[in-house]
Amino acid sequence: MTGWTIGVIGGSGLYAIDALEDVETLVLDTPWGAPSDTLVRGRIGAVRFVFLPRHGRGHRLSPTEVNARANIHALKLAGCTDVLAISAIGSLREELPPGHFVAVDQFIDRTVHRDTSFFGAGLVAHVSMADPVCPRLSTLAAQAGERAGASMVHGGTYLAMEGPQFSTRAESHLYRQWGADVIGMTAMPEAKLAREAELPYALIGMVTDYDCWREDEAHVEVDAVLAQLVSNAATARALVVELAGLLPEERTASPIDTVLDQALITHISHID
Ligand code: ADE
Repeated sequence: MTGWTIGVIGGSGLYAIDALEDVETLVLDTPWGAPSDTLVRGRIGAVRFVFLPRHGRGHRLSPTEVNARANIHALKLAGCTDVLAISAIGSLREELPPGHFVAVDQFIDRTVHRDTSFFGAGLVAHVSMADPVCPRLSTLAAQAGERAGASMVHGGTYLAMEGPQFSTRAESHLYRQWGADVIGMTAMPEAKLAREAELPYALIGMVTDYDCWREDEAHVEVDAVLAQLVSNAATARALVVELAGLLPEERTASPIDTVLDQALITHISHID
């Protein structure tokens, strides 16, 4: 094996990869509660993968209900070295039409009802989120997307909203003015928690709709999002298979593997 174990957080359709061998199911629990579902671990060639459906099988969990702390902790327990997130996004840019894939490299976090840290209650850590994705994994995932036939865009700013309702038109225009390129409901606090867990993280977003900022376009509707998701799913599976072939034979260390060594950490050393 190569030293890579890639945790893939995405839709449950991703599991049905013919090339996945030595498949096992992992039922895990964590100090933060149960992850979204059982995990599926297997290998493609010499690379180990662990799949976790973010919303649970059958899409049971709303974005607010997804227990990102449990999901990231479970991936760590399953031995993951890196995390590739794959998720549906809306487009805030004319040049990113539905069907395009975006290797996101920045985030604006507008979520409000989620547990965003593993720390607190006596042990506080401040990790840097200046560069929130792992450039190595993101570049390789984008190359894999290209090989899988996706219209791939390298780089983009993702606005994470709480949902579950889509944005108002005024919000959609505001986010465009802020410089956001795409919008979604799930990548935060996932990306922050991956960083705290010292897991290099990359996000491939699959554009399903133009949100509601375009005057001449039908505003985002669930049916259109789902139809585009189905057509994106096959490409996402192919991307994962291509990634297995692109990863270097041996995983060398990433600075993110030891990010807590540089984090500002304070803890209660005595209790009065
Ligand atoms: N996921 C897919 N499309 C979206 C949109 N327009 N807004 C938020 N999340 C989305």
